[in-house]
Amino acid sequence: MIDMLRYFLAGQATSLPRYVLEQLLFALFGWLPSLIGIGLRGLFYKLIIKSAGLPFIENGVRILQAKNLRLGRGVYIDYGVYLHACPVGIDIGDKTFIMHNSILHVFNFRNLPHAGIRIGRNCFIGEANVMRGQGGITIGNDVYTGPLVQILAVNHVYGDPDQLIREQGITAEGITIEDDVWLAAGCIVLDGVRIGKGSVIGAGAVVTEDIPSYSIAVGSPARVVKGRDAETAKRAAQASIFFGELESLSKQHQ
Ligand SMILES: CC(C)(COP(=O)(O)OP(=O)(O)OC[C@H]1O[C@@H](n2cnc3c(N)ncnc32)[C@H](O)[C@@H]1OP(=O)(O)O)[C@@H](O)C(=O)NCCC(=O)NCCS
Repeated sequence: MIDMLRYFLAGQATSLPRYVLEQLLFALFGWLPSLIGIGLRGLFYKLIIKSAGLPFIENGVRILQAKNLRLGRGVYIDYGVYLHACPVGIDIGDKTFIMHNSILHVFNFRNLPHAGIRIGRNCFIGEANVMRGQGGITIGNDVYTGPLVQILAVNHVYGDPDQLIREQGITAEGITIEDDVWLAAGCIVLDGVRIGKGSVIGAGAVVTEDIPSYSIAVGSPARVVKGRDAETAKRAAQASIFFGELESLSKQHQ
């Protein structure tokens, strides 16, 4: 029973006093909606997480191992996000948005050396994304992900049919997604993969191997079908393209 309790606490916080403080702040402020809630969490959560500025954290955000969560300036964390920042933790860069119901879980209960999730500046992590960071996930700057994207830096070992899969351990090599990548809706990135700068991964693709820079890859397993070449640029120029206020604002501040 004591062992179970210790295991539970180790997953929640880095020490018992921190667990008490963190739970108190979540109980007082975690549920409060509106700008008032965002303001109070911005002030008080700075006591338990590392944040360069005042973070914009909506109500209903669940944070475990808060000490290992590091936020840049102007980070936005939407309603229902779950951040489990076991060592080495989660880093989220300046002006990055994490949209609702996304789950970022470092899952380092085996002391894996490279575990962690690092997301760069100006990224947009779409709705209900799932990241499993056992092998380490490194995401560059200006990366956009659609809804339901999964980035899974772990595999179960299953070679011995006489042993339970859950008892055979895991492998965890890590995933790197370079700058200016767009992962479209529902795509899945498997462990050990690097997606090169400027690439686009189509909706529903399963990425099992490295993707070179400036490629468009689609399907399962994902295959490069073309590059971001002059012809693609010409078609894009002919299309009706819409920009939002956020894009205009971020251009003004560059
Ligand atoms: C990847 C994508 C951007 C490519 O668009 P595009 O440059 O216009 O590509 P094309 O339509 O010329 O397609 C090239 C080829 O790939 C195929 N293809 C395109 N997208 C595909 C996908 N998601 N899955 C499988 N095949 C796909 C096309 O059928 C075509 O095959 P063909 O040459 O045999 O006819 C687009 O298809 C896509 O998946 N968009 C995602 C939309 C989305 O997720 N929106 C949410 C916003 S985050």
